[in-house]
Amino acid sequence: MKNIAFTAIFFLIIITLLLVACNSAGTKTTVNADVAGDRKWWKEAVVYQIYPRSFKDSDGDGVGDLKGIISKLDYIKSLGVDAVWLNPIYSSPNDDNGYDISDYRNIMKDFGTMEDFNTLLKGMHDRGIKLVMDLVVNHSSDEHDWFKQSRSSRTSPYRNYYHWWDAERGKPPYRYSLFDINHDAWKYDSLTNAYYLHYFSRKQPDLNWENPKLRNEVYDIMKFWLDKGIDGFRMDAFQFVAKDTTFPAFPAGFEKDFVKYYGMVSPIHDYLKEMHKEVFSKYDVMSVAEGAGNSFEDAHNLVDADRNELNMAYAFDAVDLAKPEGYSVLKLKETFTKWDSAFAAKGWLSIYLANHDQARLVSRFGNDSAAFREVSSKMLSTFLMTMRGTPYYYNGDELGMTNIRFDDINDYKDMPTLNEYQHQKAIGGDMKKFMETIKFSCRDNGRTPYQWDTTANAGFTTGTPWLKVNSNYTTINAATEEKDENSCLNYFRKLTKLRKDNLVLVYGKYTLLDKNNPDVYAYTREQDGKKLLIVLNFRSTVSAVNTGIDVSKARVLLSNYPAPNDNVKLRPYEAVIYELK
Ligand code: GLC
Repeated sequence: MKNIAFTAIFFLIIITLLLVACNSAGTKTTVNADVAGDRKWWKEAVVYQIYPRSFKDSDGDGVGDLKGIISKLDYIKSLGVDAVWLNPIYSSPNDDNGYDISDYRNIMKDFGTMEDFNTLLKGMHDRGIKLVMDLVVNHSSDEHDWFKQSRSSRTSPYRNYYHWWDAERGKPPYRYSLFDINHDAWKYDSLTNAYYLHYFSRKQPDLNWENPKLRNEVYDIMKFWLDKGIDGFRMDAFQFVAKDTTFPAFPAGFEKDFVKYYGMVSPIHDYLKEMHKEVFSKYDVMSVAEGAGNSFEDAHNLVDADRNELNMAYAFDAVDLAKPEGYSVLKLKETFTKWDSAFAAKGWLSIYLANHDQARLVSRFGNDSAAFREVSSKMLSTFLMTMRGTPYYYNGDELGMTNIRFDDINDYKDMPTLNEYQHQKAIGGDMKKFMETIKFSCRDNGRTPYQWDTTANAGFTTGTPWLKVNSNYTTINAATEEKDENSCLNYFRKLTKLRKDNLVLVYGKYTLLDKNNPDVYAYTREQDGKKLLIVLNFRSTVSAVNTGIDVSKARVLLSNYPAPNDNVKLRPYEAVIYELK
């Protein structure tokens, strides 16, 4: 009897212990999976992208420079961003504004000196801001010493740093060039009677990643900058680095879907694993690839932590939706939702809708008319700052800067746009349509000088700006917005603070609501008992929303209207973030 009682008590204790253990494991799992287990600074960061050429000119030559950025570090800090991604600042003949590098270990003369760079990096770190640099290694400049050597003779030790096709083999199989005037990616060079490959412009010959010497050069360059203390790389056009160097013929018309043929070619993952081993594994830095291949599987293979390759990539699906005639909000929702679910359990996403390769955020995805510019710009910022993933936010969007819409082709400076203009003319294209299209989409729209204040040239330069300043700078500028509590600028600051104060916005589960609503994007983010509801009207008209959530007891954390209306009818471009009770 005594024995039975003892055994029963013993089992009771064991069961209780097991239950307690299971329970705490359960709680832990929720926390672990979403937050605590895998917290990383680069997941929690808001990345602010600076286009140095257009940010701030310190010496009156009309081109932004490093000293200019240094003079604005307190401003950058005041935005509440955690990291800066700087477009290329290395020596370059500027065929493609720095994306054609002639010396990877030096600073472009227009931008300053290495000493300026060191001051900039220290200034950022002193303020707790990380610095992410562009790594452009799908191609170099044709003025890089490697290329000069490579083209000098067929037997040069640098010949295999690039892709050459000897002319006696006949014409190489067609490859599409994104930037070339004829879209032909092979350029004949009479010096050695051979063609070289350039996916981008003729002045951007593609590097040969098959060559281990070249790969080691790249790793050394990366270490050079990482040893200076930079905090990561944005890897330009990286999905294209690996090529089938037998150059098989591709089916006619392949260029309409060229990423399918150019993106993620084997053995790109071997290169990345090698790069990780040689470089990334030795530093606590972030890495983000431009382009994510052709499928979620491609993207996962790039970024899943256990792959030991990169941290994240950015895909083009969403940015590519904007068209001059508008875009489908349903499609936008579907795109972001698809990506979120594909990465909910594993991997990490980048969130963005604009960068230096796009026209302005508010002009493409919002409404830049006088009546709606501010409110729609704030709505879009609300969206970007409340999604799961690392947000990349382009300089000037926090002011609600708009497209400049040049009428005259001579005002444009963007090389691919100018080449395409010539190409269209040569093939008898519809030039009127072309001019209208570039007013909407040319990347120069997003590259006009940053609008600092109401003085000449928006306070960007005392000289002649390299690209015209948008004449709306007298109303849209940082100084004016600084003084206005309700400006886009101050709204953006509230958003970065909100994201910082609510980790649920970084890691929390995302659930799309009112899925078939063609006008409103509504979703919740939740984590550890905290639940936020975000409702965004993407239309210039009042739109109905049906989230099925009672917000009568909810707290409004932020809204782009003085006081939110209700949760049933949203005013034009209204955005509200609720904390649900
Ligand atoms: C990337 C850059 C773009 C550049 C191109 C060639 O797409 O973002 O600005 O022109 O690569 O380097």
